[in-house]
Amino acid sequence: MKSSAMRFLVCPACKSDLEVDVCSRRGQEIIEGSLTCAACSVKYPILGGVPRFVSAGSYASSFGFEWNRFRTVQLDSFNGTKESERMLEETTGWKEEDFKGRLVLDAGVGAGRFAEVVAGKGGEVVGIDLTDAIDAAYANIGDRDNVHLIQADIFAMPFRKHAFDLAYSIGVLHHTPDTRAAFDRVADTVKKDGAFAVYLYHRYGPDAHSTDIIRTLTTHLPLRIVFALSVLAVPLYYLYKIPFLGPVLEMLLPISLHPNWRWRWLDTFDWYTPKYQWKFLYPEVFRWFRENGFVDVEVFDEPIRMRGSRRFNHLADRYGERDRDVVQEDIAPEAADTGLGGWNGSPLTPARA
Ligand SMILES: C[S@@+](CC[C@H](N)C(=O)[O-])C[C@H]1O[C@@H](n2cnc3c(N)ncnc32)[C@H](O)[C@@H]1O
Ligand SMILES: [Zn+2]
Repeated sequence: MKSSAMRFLVCPACKSDLEVDVCSRRGQEIIEGSLTCAACSVKYPILGGVPRFVSAGSYASSFGFEWNRFRTVQLDSFNGTKESERMLEETTGWKEEDFKGRLVLDAGVGAGRFAEVVAGKGGEVVGIDLTDAIDAAYANIGDRDNVHLIQADIFAMPFRKHAFDLAYSIGVLHHTPDTRAAFDRVADTVKKDGAFAVYLYHRYGPDAHSTDIIRTLTTHLPLRIVFALSVLAVPLYYLYKIPFLGPVLEMLLPISLHPNWRWRWLDTFDWYTPKYQWKFLYPEVFRWFRENGFVDVEVFDEPIRMRGSRRFNHLADRYGERDRDVVQEDIAPEAADTGLGGWNGSPLTPARA
């Protein structure tokens, strides 16, 4: 943990300031110590360089297992591709100039594949994760000057109000027990004139449900068993490439067809293990953006990749906090009138130019 994180960290329980107690350091990193709330006296440990506001992964423990076994597979710096950089841009539309010098939240950072890209583009990125995936992220990118990694829950984040210029959450919110509530929480970390981007699963077409039946079994199996079974995706890939036979197999038993064998194994494990895996339609996510005070909501390519810019703070009004520097009148009338009645949910803006 870096001391500079103290400027945005607060107690998740009562939102008061924290006091840091350092037991050991490595360079600028605080490796062991604690954060104590000045108001409610709750003490949060700093262990292995990471401040811990939650103790275990709870419902998301499959991800802790996943990212510690496949720690480096999806990191551009390890696999020599630009796949994560491309996916981040396709989901957010943000480029280097958008990230430079901005404070950016990665909600559900996993092993840190996107946080690495943001840091490389000059953003100061704060990655949070509920599980010990945060230790995988810390091993990957924790030593970078502009990276902060924190074990915390999206539903109880340890941040000052509207702390972030930009926030994104890629492949995360649909794995929480209440995606809409999680969306609201992340949206509320964004300051006025900031922006928020998400990647969510969709439920258009039969393909969207192809893993549902098998998941009813695999989500109840021990993780080690699914880990061992999903390695079968590595050789099966070649069978799935056979014309006519491949598409039938894909319908019966979907596996990842990523050309990198480790990635294929990871993705297949990732599809079959999470406890929650909700799916959405574009209009409902569009409404979530609007109800949280976002305008200029843009839709990128599938699954569901959308972003919006914040013009007022809906949650502050809902909870009676009356943030008068962020008011609804800021919304351009044409944006406020936007509706999606009758829209069938097709993407409006392709992500690739
Ligand atoms: C499919 S992974 C995606 C990780 C990363 N965004 C990526 O795309 O590589 C979902 C991540 O969300 C995290 N997660 C799930 N629920 C969370 C919560 N309530 N708070 C913080 N992180 C959460 C999981 O632990 C997991 O690492
Ligand atoms: Zn407190």
